[in-house]
Amino acid sequence: MKTVVVFSGAGMSAESGIDTFRDGGGLWEQHRVEDIATPDAWNRNPDLVTRFYNERRKIIIGANPNKAHHDIANMEHLANVHIVTQNIDDLHERAGSTSVHHLHGNIRYSKSSGPNQEKEFFQIDGAELGAADLCPDGYRLRPHVVWFGENVPAYESAVLILNEADILIVVGTSLQVHPAAGLIQFASEAEQKFIVDPNADSLAVPNDFIRVNKVASEGFAFILDKLKFIP
Ligand SMILES: NC(=O)c1ccc[n+]([C@@H]2O[C@H](COP(=O)([O-])OP(=O)(O)OC[C@H]3O[C@@H](n4cnc5c(N)ncnc54)[C@H](O)[C@@H]3O)[C@@H](O)[C@H]2O)c1
Repeated sequence: MKTVVVFSGAGMSAESGIDTFRDGGGLWEQHRVEDIATPDAWNRNPDLVTRFYNERRKIIIGANPNKAHHDIANMEHLANVHIVTQNIDDLHERAGSTSVHHLHGNIRYSKSSGPNQEKEFFQIDGAELGAADLCPDGYRLRPHVVWFGENVPAYESAVLILNEADILIVVGTSLQVHPAAGLIQFASEAEQKFIVDPNADSLAVPNDFIRVNKVASEGFAFILDKLKFIP
């Protein structure tokens, strides 16, 4: 079977009603990044940061996977499918995808704000993380998300996944967040590469990408029609 790697960003979940970051009305128009998504913001005001992510978590819990999430999950009947996602929502998993690699963490989990942040992740029961929630070492729990200015511990393993791609499908990402955006270069052996985005024409990808100027649900229907999965 062919190996399909899907590299997804915020636009993947737009049709599920979850705001992207950079489109009109997106999250960054409503909040200043330095107030809510940096280690400094946490050190200054952990309650504000916790509240921001509690609100995001509530929206994500209330959202449902969209048709594109389901199409990707169903592709597992036809190919080896691996997802590398910049999204912190869990909609790929809830659609049934079994190989989901979160580059920027998963909002449904927390981790220690102490020195051993990557040691263990704790599933959050419901939407609320609170000030009294502590890790076993006694540090306050913070959302399991990668903030601006932080390392991306899942990057190296993502490179290995991209290396394996026979087919690469990039969807719903402006390719402006680094180092995530650079990952597409590691699918150098892929025989077919697609980018699905209503603004695909304006995105910075090499010439060997097929640009699919559509929203995720329509884009996947289009690609599935085109792909031949015969081993
Ligand atoms: N759902 C989430 O978990 C979520 C939401 C917002 C932001 N983020 C985080 O913010 C960062 C933002 O970078 P990014 O590149 O992922 O997002 P981005 O906001 O920078 O770009 C979103 C892209 O999606 C496209 N888009 C909008 N609607 C679409 C649709 N219906 N179908 C397909 N594409 C659509 C836009 O044209 C744009 O190119 C990521 O690191 C991610 O971790 C995550």
